[in-house]
Amino acid sequence: MKQKLTIPLFALLCLFLFLNATIDLDNLFNYQDQFIPNYITKDNSATNPMDDKLATLGRVLFYDKTLSSNNTIACASCHMQEFAFSDPATQSVGLNGGLTGRHAMRLVNTRFADEVRFFWDERAASLEAQTTQPIQDHIEMGFSGTNGDPDINDLIEILEGLTYYEQLFTFAYGDPTITEARLQLALAQFVRSIQSFDSRFDDGLSQVNNVNQPFPNFTPEENQGKNLFLQTPANGGAGCAGCHRPPEFDIDPITLNNGVITVAGTAGTDLTNTRAPSLRDVVNNNGDLNGPLMHDGSFTSLLQVIDHYNAIPNDPTNTNLDPRLLGPGGQPQNLNLTIAEKNALIDFLGTLTGTNIYTDEKWSDPFEPNGTITIIGGNLGIDALPALKPTLTVSPNPVQQLTNLNITDGAYSVTIFNLLGQQILQSNIEGSSTFDLGSFKAGLYILLVEDMDSGLTNSVKILKQ
Ligand code: HEC
Ligand code: HEC
Repeated sequence: MKQKLTIPLFALLCLFLFLNATIDLDNLFNYQDQFIPNYITKDNSATNPMDDKLATLGRVLFYDKTLSSNNTIACASCHMQEFAFSDPATQSVGLNGGLTGRHAMRLVNTRFADEVRFFWDERAASLEAQTTQPIQDHIEMGFSGTNGDPDINDLIEILEGLTYYEQLFTFAYGDPTITEARLQLALAQFVRSIQSFDSRFDDGLSQVNNVNQPFPNFTPEENQGKNLFLQTPANGGAGCAGCHRPPEFDIDPITLNNGVITVAGTAGTDLTNTRAPSLRDVVNNNGDLNGPLMHDGSFTSLLQVIDHYNAIPNDPTNTNLDPRLLGPGGQPQNLNLTIAEKNALIDFLGTLTGTNIYTDEKWSDPFEPNGTITIIGGNLGIDALPALKPTLTVSPNPVQQLTNLNITDGAYSVTIFNLLGQQILQSNIEGSSTFDLGSFKAGLYILLVEDMDSGLTNSVKILKQ
């Protein structure tokens, strides 16, 4: 009797453990329709609209050590969920013990920002362009094609040999082909999906709907710190909001450097660092820093940060200092903050920390400790796949006015949506047809085709110019 009970229990437990390292394509996590507060207006995902399938593929890539040339480093080795996707080390350890030249940035709310160039010095023109640069870095992941390293095409060949990528790419893109562009789209989707809007700041703002009003859920010190953050130095504030703009706390795209011009781990000067990640989740829920701060990781407390802005170093060699950090006489600013004011600013920065980002499974490691992963669901009998969906192509795409939808004969319902999900056009067709998009505004649209007999659907993105 006892034995009969334990065996199913054991089997259930195994199933449970097994499911932890399983991607279930029929039950995807929600990446594309996450809750976004109504006061969040910046969104840079328009050219790569959020999609659960792509983000799911991106999650696997982000955690996959196969993406480094010696199978030891994944994106997540330097961008760790428990530290808001940053690294507590000042410089991250890459291949063979090599160190990165800058501190690994938090990846929080990258989607909700006007600045679309990435890295501290903004050398990546977009998040998509950014994502394959670490892969092609000799120290970070090693597919650089230089110094005797393999290159990205070698990586693509390796990935094409893995069954789980054959499944995931087919699921995400309709066929198993792997290209650098497809890697970029999927990795950028996953990074953009990482969002944090459950902080005490969000709670307060949603109560009063005006960032300048005192927040009822804040202590007097936190409200004082908020005022200091928001007000310009001319108005008795610390002027932080001029560059770190609430409520997203994204960096103003025109920002120059902030006077931190040292280089991590070596002597020298670097005037090029003009981007900061969102100031959300600088500290964790215990008030501890998620990693040292600034491009060189030279600040290990928030007090050091405030002290820096309180008295910006006067260094004539810094020809790229942002003019907003100059005082009335044109010299680097001296805010003369009191200790109480400094502490208030620190308290306020602590209110920008959320909870979910540190624990949500959708951003967690999908691999077993031994590096295996299991994909289930998704109707992935690969042979059966072409019959599953009506195959279609659209040309020309991008389109100015007329575009042809090519599809095998049959009865279909065609709907075109804009990216807000609003229906712009609906039509029933009997095979290939021409559509006039002349009156559409420029931008991306989704054309959805439903086979009226089988109910199967397929979709394609159309760019209206
Ligand atoms: C060896 C450590 C390491 C690995 C591996 C790594 N990164 Fe990074 N990441 C960094 C460092 C360091 C920076 C800042 C570099 C700079 O600005 O020069 C950074 C910056 C970024 C940024 C820019 C964030 C911003 O706000 O501008 C993104 C996005 C990013 N990494 C994503 C990834 C992805 C995706 C992967 C995997 C394909 C990855 N990283 C692999 C260390 C790493
Ligand atoms: C003129 C624009 C500007 C102003 C004003 C400004 N910052 Fe910054 N901030 C930056 C830039 C640029 C960086 C990235 C600099 C670097 O790493 O070299 C940065 C970085 C930071 C960081 C580190 C972020 C990280 O992820 O490591 C913190 C924290 C910060 N600022 C807080 C503040 C506070 C608090 C104030 C007001 C007292 C303030 N900033 C005012 C431009 C500004």
